[in-house]
Amino acid sequence: MGDNLEHGSDQAVGNRLPLIGEDAPAFTAETTNGVINFPEDYKGKWVILFSHPADFTPVCTTEFLAFAKRVESFKKLNCELIGLSVDSTYSHIAWLRTIKEKIEYKGQKNADVTFPVIADLKQTVSKLYGMVQPGESDTKAVRAVFFIDPRAKVRALMYYPLSNGRNFDEILRLLIAMQTTDAHACATPADWQPGDDVIIPPPGTTAEATERVANAGADYKSLDWFFNLKPLPKDKLTLP
Ligand code: BEZ
Repeated sequence: MGDNLEHGSDQAVGNRLPLIGEDAPAFTAETTNGVINFPEDYKGKWVILFSHPADFTPVCTTEFLAFAKRVESFKKLNCELIGLSVDSTYSHIAWLRTIKEKIEYKGQKNADVTFPVIADLKQTVSKLYGMVQPGESDTKAVRAVFFIDPRAKVRALMYYPLSNGRNFDEILRLLIAMQTTDAHACATPADWQPGDDVIIPPPGTTAEATERVANAGADYKSLDWFFNLKPLPKDKLTLP
């Protein structure tokens, strides 16, 4: 057992960041929607597991509004949201009610947060996902986002400090980009948006490199042997 591991009830508690390509750590947790077992309860779905520092704080409130606004878009992409902070379920419930009943921000009001929010008072899940980063705070989770695919593998992660809210269009864009990569065996360039050209994986051999340049034309364009782009129209994509 590593030095930074201790045992909670039945879950090993470390404070290590799960890495891209690894199995997302399993957990059982109390949430605003009852107990969840991850990943069993989410078989065949993408999951975005995200942490926020604390209930009843302004930046976090704007972030919950931003997620609530896009919940249907995530559902259409077969993706469920799970929130988390080290607050209690009572605090989560009171805060979510306040958001719905009292907060109007940028024209958005009556926001209903329907996804589960984990009450991680003992920091059990936070530590499994490296969400408590003591240099920033040892009592609050940083703003982490884990993109977990239907095979329960970590596909991407983001970490933001306490002071700065995340970009929710980027979270949605990255999910669509990864689903596009899986469905169409391609990569996506910087600032890619659905409908833009995608990148054909680079050739693996000298012969393939020569072929790529020689065969460029109607189906794809070649900027150089290693850099080939093909159109992928929006009607071929799964979009919200
Ligand atoms: C906020 O969400 O506003 C916030 C939370 C913790 C520290 C700083 C800001």
